[in-house]
Amino acid sequence: MKILSGTSNPTLSKNISRYLRTKLVNTNIKKFADGEIYVEINENIRGNSVFVIQSSANPANDNLMELLLCIDALRRSSAKNITAVIPYFGYARQDRKVVPRTSISAKLVSNLITNAGANRIVTVDLHAGQIQGFFDMPVDNLFTTPLFARYIKKNIKSKNFICVSPDAGAIERTRALATKINADLAIIDKRRPEPGKSKVMNIIGNVKDKDCIIIDDIIDSGGTIINAADALVKKGAKSVYVFISHAVLSGNAIKNIQKSKIKKLIITDTIDNSKKIKKTNKIQVLSIAQLMAEAIKRISNSTSVSSLFN
Ligand code: R5P
Repeated sequence: MKILSGTSNPTLSKNISRYLRTKLVNTNIKKFADGEIYVEINENIRGNSVFVIQSSANPANDNLMELLLCIDALRRSSAKNITAVIPYFGYARQDRKVVPRTSISAKLVSNLITNAGANRIVTVDLHAGQIQGFFDMPVDNLFTTPLFARYIKKNIKSKNFICVSPDAGAIERTRALATKINADLAIIDKRRPEPGKSKVMNIIGNVKDKDCIIIDDIIDSGGTIINAADALVKKGAKSVYVFISHAVLSGNAIKNIQKSKIKKLIITDTIDNSKKIKKTNKIQVLSIAQLMAEAIKRISNSTSVSSLFN
């Protein structure tokens, strides 16, 4: 078994390989002057099962193309199996036609990864679980909920928790966390008047004097979560903690979060934000390296991955 890292998240790859006590495959990945990407593998991988780690985070197109080129290079170098380990699976939010004459990017990206030569996918908190069906190969969708639940039990002292789903899409994930920490569930009725803008219409559930835990898969502009925190505080919530799997944090997100009613934002390292978040004390990162390493080990040994979440 070998681990090859793309350039999107080198620290996470290093930490995963450290847990697995293995070295990363020696590669030369660079860009030509015109922006084209070049991938070269500098060691023999014939007959090996190779796990390629690459998130399709910003710059999404370059990182996706790099993933495809790594898979292609491995296939042409006679790797036995190629597993695309995609901690953050970008383009997943366009998973159906919401308005006519639009593309379904999640399906196109799955076709590209399939055609490049991957035999298996490992990812974390897919935006919509159904995207697994866009692939005709095994997909292991790992969950961050146990990681978040452990953090909450250890670090947030409260007898009055409520888990809040920031929109209809996040209800299943929120319910799973609420069950794990033995909390009630509230739901926010969010509308998107236009792409990139969100509005809280209503809160279903009683949040008065409660310590609210919001959980979502993605924070992008921050609008969804900041508006949710405002609405919860207006309804009498005592505090608002936010847990996010994939911190896209585009534009002024970090500045706006700093000024917001959110007490603490806890994210994972599926996307490398180490430079971006240096100046804020409101954001904390939990690493998923150990979880990913354990999943890779189990896949490699043909043992159960789902039992990781029991
Ligand atoms: C949408 O369904 C996602 O789960 C997130 O709620 C959304 O991507 C967050 O975007 P933003 O931070 O820009 O409101």
